[in-house]
Amino acid sequence: MNLTEASTLEPQTPLTEIDPADSGHQAKSTMPAIAKRCCEAQIAHRPRLLRRTETLRRMVREHILQVEDLIYPLFVMEGEKHQESVPSMPGCYRYTLDLLLDEVKQAYKLGIGAIALFPLIPHAQKDNAGTESYNPDGLIPRAVRAIKQAVPDILVITDVALDPYSSEGHDGIVQDGKILNDETVAVLEKQAIVQAEAGADFVAPSDMMDGRVGAIRRALDAEGWINVGILAYSAKYSSAYYGPFRDALDSAPKFGDKKTYQMDAANAIEAIKEVDLDIAEGADIVMVKPALAYLDVICQIKQHTNLPVAAYNVSGEYAMIKAAAQQGWIDEKKVILETLTSMKRAGANLILTYFAKDVALMLQS
Ligand code: PBG
Repeated sequence: MNLTEASTLEPQTPLTEIDPADSGHQAKSTMPAIAKRCCEAQIAHRPRLLRRTETLRRMVREHILQVEDLIYPLFVMEGEKHQESVPSMPGCYRYTLDLLLDEVKQAYKLGIGAIALFPLIPHAQKDNAGTESYNPDGLIPRAVRAIKQAVPDILVITDVALDPYSSEGHDGIVQDGKILNDETVAVLEKQAIVQAEAGADFVAPSDMMDGRVGAIRRALDAEGWINVGILAYSAKYSSAYYGPFRDALDSAPKFGDKKTYQMDAANAIEAIKEVDLDIAEGADIVMVKPALAYLDVICQIKQHTNLPVAAYNVSGEYAMIKAAAQQGWIDEKKVILETLTSMKRAGANLILTYFAKDVALMLQS
């Protein structure tokens, strides 16, 4: 019973004031007897007790970042024995397929269970309809086959979207400055099928066209790919945090922005609508992207669905930590762990992160 309840029990007695300067909240002498007894009986709350030693802190820890949570995004390009650094993503590279295999093997040895592949497509192969995206001998299908041969147990997630293949740098076919929805979805279906044929475990539509999850699910099922899953970029926001990724793939839009298909940064309820639609259409895992500036969205979606929730710790989030660390302004390792743990605390079950290998190493020591 607290002071307020006590005073309602005895309405005639004047309410006792608590002196804020008195840290023990001792009641003054004007306090009614019943309230005084309650106050004396009150135990001291000492939450610090559970923080006393590292062993104790570990025991009561609510969320633990594990290597199993991580998905490692990787950039692949044509050529041999070559890797190119991405200037705005220090420590990240575009790999030719042979070197990519080494990187995948290393990641798997570190305990990372899944990679997400993104291609750098030569300009000559780009067109408005993203035709190269469904070439069965294209870079991604070749990469998937090679990875599945070299490291059969690692899960391979392929990106379904037109932007790396689009001469316009958009995620859909452009006509008169507009992005065509249904015509684009028809291409995405073909892209997903080609990726499934190559051996992808999950296809991951990141394009934000309406109805694409259902269309891809139907197309996969019709071709017998019932065990290929869909990791849906359900709540993908129109975000300035994607800048470094677009440098990596040379995929920035040639005109305008992506606001007519990617979500408005100010909306959270709409994210739930997108998630509901993707689940109804057959998504197996739903994703929020970016992660750090959208932790509230991750949290709401986790409470809303029983599906696993993924968060994409995107290129701009990576670049900010790297840049500050290079200046000596922050402790890189600690900030990485704190940032990724915040995503788990928000409700993410899986985190796509360019830090995946670094984190796997940190978690080992
Ligand atoms: C495009 C795609 C983007 C990212 C993943 N897939 C960029 C975009 O939508 O322009 C961004 C990932 C990152 O920034 O790390 N389909």
